Amino acid sequence: MSPVVCPASRTDVPATLEIYNHAVLHTTASYDLEPVSLDTRLAWFDHKQAAGWPILVLEDAGRVIGWATYGPFREKPGYAGTVEHSVYIRDGLRGAGLGTLLMNALIADATARNFHVMVGGVAADNAGSLAFHTRLGFVQVAHFRQVGRKFGRWLDLAFLQLVLDEPAGEDGKING
Ligand SMILES: CC(C)(COP(=O)(O)OP(=O)(O)OC[C@H]1O[C@@H](n2cnc3c(N)ncnc32)[C@H](O)[C@@H]1OP(=O)(O)O)[C@@H](O)C(=O)NCCC(=O)NCCS
Repeated sequence: MSPVVCPASRTDVPATLEIYNHAVLHTTASYDLEPVSLDTRLAWFDHKQAAGWPILVLEDAGRVIGWATYGPFREKPGYAGTVEHSVYIRDGLRGAGLGTLLMNALIADATARNFHVMVGGVAADNAGSLAFHTRLGFVQVAHFRQVGRKFGRWLDLAFLQLVLDEPAGEDGKING
């Protein structure tokens, strides 16, 4: 398998939506409660494209097996150096280094565009995603109690951040 990362095209939207909706239905990775419709997702894609935000897909033999994107963290202009990202790997293909491949490309994209900070909002019960982001050099900076509700229970939300242009530490890990 030699997966490649490339910009998403509109024809990739159904496959990225399939990956996303599986996570909506079965995980706390997204705080959406119901599957998103294709029309809604196409409108989301068009809006992101028009605004110049990247949507990357990970493809293997022409099949979309993951996607990642970032966009504004908060709308006020003083936050313009900060972006918030999302990343999803197809169920059944997780834990094989694919998310790392995708995030490294997304981080490189944000760095090349001179963004300063990348933020991830992760459900505090999503231990895999917390470990994944920590491994990438993200540092947890906030833990909000019970700000979400899904599957009949309150959800805590962690915020993790990566300062993109901070020099590498002595151990070679950025922010590590
Ligand atoms: C989170 C996600 C994107 C990570 O992608 P992935 O391809 O599974 O992760 P990788 O294989 O690149 O993992 C890299 C490192 O992250 C950590 N990690 C990843 N998944 C983990 C898990 N379930 N439990 C513990 N650590 C995990 C490990 O340290 C791993 O390195 P190692 O395999 O050498 O130990 C993917 O699992 C996913 O799509 N999950 C469902 C959706 C989701 O939670 N998205 C994030 C929303 S905030």
